[in-house]
Amino acid sequence: MMQTRSRTVLSRAAVRAYYDRFGAKQDSQGFYEEPAIDALIAHADFEHAQQVYEFGCGTGKLARRLLDQHLPDSARYLGCDLSPVMTRIAQGRIEPYAARARIVQTEGEVRFPFEDGTIDRVVSCYVLDLMSGEDIRHYFAEAHRVLAPGGMVCVASLGHGAGLLSSMVSMLWSGVFRLAPALVGGCRPIELETYIDPAQWQECYRNTVTPFGIPSQVRVVQTRRT
Ligand SMILES: C[S@@+](CC[C@H](N)C(=O)[O-])C[C@H]1O[C@@H](n2cnc3c(N)ncnc32)[C@H](O)[C@@H]1O
Repeated sequence: MMQTRSRTVLSRAAVRAYYDRFGAKQDSQGFYEEPAIDALIAHADFEHAQQVYEFGCGTGKLARRLLDQHLPDSARYLGCDLSPVMTRIAQGRIEPYAARARIVQTEGEVRFPFEDGTIDRVVSCYVLDLMSGEDIRHYFAEAHRVLAPGGMVCVASLGHGAGLLSSMVSMLWSGVFRLAPALVGGCRPIELETYIDPAQWQECYRNTVTPFGIPSQVRVVQTRRT
């Protein structure tokens, strides 16, 4: 009987090598990412955020857009990325905002550099779908730790489809990922609900968008006030 090889996620070293090679080409993924990111921005109330942390900021495209158009002039932004190439591109992009926005390169650790309860938004677009289940659980635990009461996690990721076309695209994508994860940039469709504990998070916005049949989930959740 023929056996299908099943792969887990790429190692952090492999993710770094991939995104160092991919670099600015990441922005070409906008054709399916932008509708989800537009929806995320429309529902995350960045206009009232004072401290934002973006985990996996890539080329800094979202950072620049938030700083140009959505965050108050007094807001501070910190982004991080595992890839030195991405970090350099992003640093260049937010240069005009250097007094209050910074991007650092990390080793991929899921540990957020903030005191408990001190920030307003944790944001990640198309990053959780590269991470192991264990790292995604750490991500939500860290977000819950650092967010102030009422603070929000705002995430977009590849998801599973709803209609026929998007379900087929998602199955195909998952199949390619299992055989050769690097062919799809290490990303696979995930189910964000699996990681969002309703006892800790209150849902603010949930949607799945499917431009070109490629399904993306968008979730904005808020820490429950105790
Ligand atoms: C698919 S790209 C998305 C980039 C950007 N968020 C966007 O929407 O265009 C994924 C990014 O996450 C970064 N990344 C993946 N795992 C990471 C980790 N554990 N820590 C920090 N960055 C990570 C990669 O280096 C890459 O730049």
